[in-house]
Amino acid sequence: MGYESVYERAMRDPDSFWAEAASLIDWASPWEQALDRSKPPFYRWFSGATLNTCYNAVDRHVEAGRGEQTAIIHDSPVTHTKRRISYAELQDQTARFAGVLQSLGVSKGDRVIIYMPMVPEALIAMLGCARIGAIHSVVFGGFSAHELATRIDDAQPRVMVAGSCGIEPNRVVHYKPLLDAAIEQATHKPSHCILLQRPEEPGSLIPGRDLGWHEAMERAQPAACVPVAATDPLYILYTSGTTGQPKGVVRDNGGHAVAMAWSMRHVYDMQPGEVFWAASDVGWVVGHSYIVYAPLLSGCTTIVYEGKPVGTPDAGAFWRVIEEHDVSVLFTAPTAFRAIKREDPRAEHLARYNIGSLRALFLAGERCDPDTLTWAQSILGVPVIDHWWQTETGWAIAANCLGIEALPVKAGSPTRAVPGYDIQVLDDEGEPAKPGAIGRIMLRLPLPPGCLSTLWGNDERFVQSYLSAQPGYYLTGDAGYLDEEGYLFVMSRIDDIINVAGHRLSTGAMEAVLASHPDVAECAVIGAADALKGELPLGLVVLKSGVEREAADIGHELVERVRDQIGPVAAFKTVAVVKRLPKTRSGKILRGTMKAIADGKDYRMPATIDDPAILDEIQSALSAIGYAHRV
Ligand code: COA
Ligand code: AMP
Repeated sequence: MGYESVYERAMRDPDSFWAEAASLIDWASPWEQALDRSKPPFYRWFSGATLNTCYNAVDRHVEAGRGEQTAIIHDSPVTHTKRRISYAELQDQTARFAGVLQSLGVSKGDRVIIYMPMVPEALIAMLGCARIGAIHSVVFGGFSAHELATRIDDAQPRVMVAGSCGIEPNRVVHYKPLLDAAIEQATHKPSHCILLQRPEEPGSLIPGRDLGWHEAMERAQPAACVPVAATDPLYILYTSGTTGQPKGVVRDNGGHAVAMAWSMRHVYDMQPGEVFWAASDVGWVVGHSYIVYAPLLSGCTTIVYEGKPVGTPDAGAFWRVIEEHDVSVLFTAPTAFRAIKREDPRAEHLARYNIGSLRALFLAGERCDPDTLTWAQSILGVPVIDHWWQTETGWAIAANCLGIEALPVKAGSPTRAVPGYDIQVLDDEGEPAKPGAIGRIMLRLPLPPGCLSTLWGNDERFVQSYLSAQPGYYLTGDAGYLDEEGYLFVMSRIDDIINVAGHRLSTGAMEAVLASHPDVAECAVIGAADALKGELPLGLVVLKSGVEREAADIGHELVERVRDQIGPVAAFKTVAVVKRLPKTRSGKILRGTMKAIADGKDYRMPATIDDPAILDEIQSALSAIGYAHRV
């Protein structure tokens, strides 16, 4: 069946389409309804059914004879180690880890926060939670203690699981001190921490609270899989919202398992036994979905890569991993390919490797610029697929579904709606925009299985953030257009979210940090274009009158503050001190205009601007620090 007919079937009769897809999963008991529409706008998939996600990702493959197959390859150039874990070993490890959690009083519905680098134990911890119905929340290692504390207070975990350290090419990340500081700052106090001691920097254990991973695992009684409701939460994943308070995206068990298994076959064209590599991090949604759950639910081998595209040791790192582990499909962010291209524009490293196993490259996380797309196509000689999605959906909204039918690629477009998603571009009046006209990208409800069911503990914020802009639609927060052939083009965000090296960040959260500095009267943070990372945050600050300290000193303090309060991942390194910020007559800061100036682009003088002369001041302040050059 071709793309058109599969898409049409999914739209016409979603209940039977997804009920059929659900046969990819083993259920403990069947559902009453595939799609429960009884409480709109809250839709629920597979209500009444029970299952266990860990059983589906691990145990059933062992029962089906895949016990000896490698489930996880840990390839870690930063520690010079490689390790393979079979499905049988993974079953033993997850059962033991689930036993450790149970011995600490964790049971169904309890939260466990995981703060770990790219090591297999992060996956074992996630699966161990799923095994007993506990809800995990993984926090990316590049976030600061303060961000971790915010998540501790929101999720209220019973237990924390952490690595003692992470290894970045230029430094060791001190996870254990960050963990201790976060617990110190948080109001909620988890009762225990399980610490994976890494030889590069072991952490000190706090008696009575902290346990070593290995010792706890040795003593543990393996725990069985506990069936949970399809609609019970599997995990919470925090993502940047428009305020400093991150949003806890909640994913259910049943719909998620179905979406993961279906997408592995139909979007990525993967078969059981093949090797899938998502070069991302378990702290992001790409890691949750395509390092952990989708490959394992599908009986594939997944790669946990603890390294970078360049510098570990060189720009041939990706090709080495593909050759060495027979990777069929690679998934990463365009920024990784920009980094490789910058170091090795003629792809000379590629000549040293045989990447014949590679069938396709999938890119997501940020807009894929046509240059990067064509470069990747030309050096790899396989389909390069841009696909668009977000933490909230958990899997692709628009893609070229290679497992259904490869459609012609249009540079700059993630192709067409994935079956199950009804993508609409609406204008300011809420009417469908004409082909080619830019509007808000919305998804008509109900969403397919696997998308967020709510925000943790906050149904109201879920409805207000996503479902209120237009009744009956989900607001993606992206703007773009559909062309005559239904190809989607995603152009920009409509809120203050920026994308830095494929990482989603809130400029509002950074502004809150800058505004808390005693010398700052007013500030704005914009995402300025960057050739490597797509965008980089740029702060503009107005100092309080009477402040006579050196602007450079204040700038350093602000950079340190953002690093300390949000984390190195924010990549906040540049501050311009300006006399005034441009505003509308009603006092709204003209961030879009300042971004155009920083990027050296043409802009229209805003009709409501209070004082146009301020724009010249901004222009010269930004030119002085290397921005605002016309392109
Ligand atoms: N733990 C702690 N710190 C981390 C971290 C982690 N897991 N990941 C990144 N950081 C730190 C980096 O060390 C860097 O710190 P620094 O300011 O001290 O140098 C900072 O956060 C910014 O990181 P990043 O923006 O990733 O820049 P980078 O220079 O380290 O690497 C790329 C640039 C392009 C090579 C890298 O971002 C990359 O490989 N991206 C593509 C893949 C990807 O992860 N995509 C995510 C979604 S699919
Ligand atoms: P995240 O929730 O971190 O996955 O970030 C999601 C956001 O990243 C989306 O809402 C888009 O703004 C952006 N994004 C992700 N993939 C793409 C893509 N293929 N093209 C354009 N933007 C993308």
